[in-house]
Amino acid sequence: GNKNINAKLVLLGDVGAGKSSLVLRFVKGQFVDFQESTIGAAFFSQTLAVNDATVKFEIWDTAGQERYHSLAPMYYRGAAAAVVVYDITNQASFARAKKWVQELQAQGNPNMVMALAGNKADLPDARKVTTEEAQTYAQENGLFLMETSAKTAINVNDVFYEIAKRLSQA
Ligand code: GTP
Ligand code: MG
Repeated sequence: GNKNINAKLVLLGDVGAGKSSLVLRFVKGQFVDFQESTIGAAFFSQTLAVNDATVKFEIWDTAGQERYHSLAPMYYRGAAAAVVVYDITNQASFARAKKWVQELQAQGNPNMVMALAGNKADLPDARKVTTEEAQTYAQENGLFLMETSAKTAINVNDVFYEIAKRLSQA
């Protein structure tokens, strides 16, 4: 590779949707059943090589608890990418994800690459949000959708890889 890109990336989404678990899976290849709720935000970094570029992600894993909502702009301001996470077994988390997308569209960087991650895809029997409704929403709002599982690792690296690819082509 010959292009080095530093990319600030923020994860946003409801309490318990699995933001920290996705980051832990991506950065450390691990999963824990009793992940603690994030306080404020946590920082991680991870580097991915795509085609002709090396993308260094500077990742802000924000807290979903409502009391931390006012901190969010510090983390999405200047971000090149956002991963908005919901839990496919929780309709309220999908509604919350849409609110985050609205806020990013209104206040975020207009060129931001946005991913919608429908997490906990390992729990299909408990599914409350269909792939179709999420896909329709994503298409209408300029995001790309991936259904992920931090537990089984399905599609987790793929979300970050797709973002890296789009950033390297920008
Ligand atoms: P806040 O920090 O409170 O905003 O939550 P969060 O979005 O960071 O969620 P977190 O990663 O803490 O995950 C919440 C719970 O869901 C934990 O008990 C995780 O083990 C579980 N969890 C996360 N991802 C998955 C997944 O893909 N599948 C399953 N089955 N459980 C998951
Ligand atoms: Mg968390």
